[in-house]
Amino acid sequence: MTRVQRNLCRCLVVLVCLVFPLAVAQAQDNDAFIQYRQKVMTSNGANLGAIGDILKNKLPYEQHIGVHAQEIQRMSTLIPSAFKKETAAGKTDAKPEIWKEWDKFTAAADAMGREAAELATVAQGGNMEAISAQVKKLSDACGNCHKPYRKPKEESYKNKS
Ligand code: HEC
Repeated sequence: MTRVQRNLCRCLVVLVCLVFPLAVAQAQDNDAFIQYRQKVMTSNGANLGAIGDILKNKLPYEQHIGVHAQEIQRMSTLIPSAFKKETAAGKTDAKPEIWKEWDKFTAAADAMGREAAELATVAQGGNMEAISAQVKKLSDACGNCHKPYRKPKEESYKNKS
């Protein structure tokens, strides 16, 4: 080995040592962001699911519907910052379109927030038909964002080992 070659070798070793841990740290970092935003969504799923249970099984919790709706309304305000970090790789169903169409994505979060706030108001009236109709509008607002920005079930990370 010439001196130049030896130096090149050393340089490479140093580079790999520096870059590899950085790449690992970056991956862990992304996973943490993904897990967090999925928990925000899981909370939406739990609250909408609870409302569905109350209606479907005629549980004596009509008073709870407004509270669940308020929780979803609050979550809508967290969606923009929870998804700000651009990462569509790994254990996630987020589509890259989110960050290409950021304004549309956040508008879909706002729309969900408005439907949830409306449900909280309608729930106070106690009219079950009106409540059911507003629940439908709210769940449509979830779908309006999932359709363009979330991978369909068949492609979900949950089906991959
Ligand atoms: C502004 C867009 C948007 C709105 C509005 C929205 N979601 Fe989501 N949701 C997403 C995206 C994107 C993902 C995929 C996140 C990921 O895997 O990183 C997701 C994932 C989920 C998940 C799966 C979480 C997991 O652990 O993988 C559930 C459950 C969910 N959403 C429920 C809801 C419900 C219920 C509503 C309405 C009350 C709703 N979402 C409204 C964008 C949205």
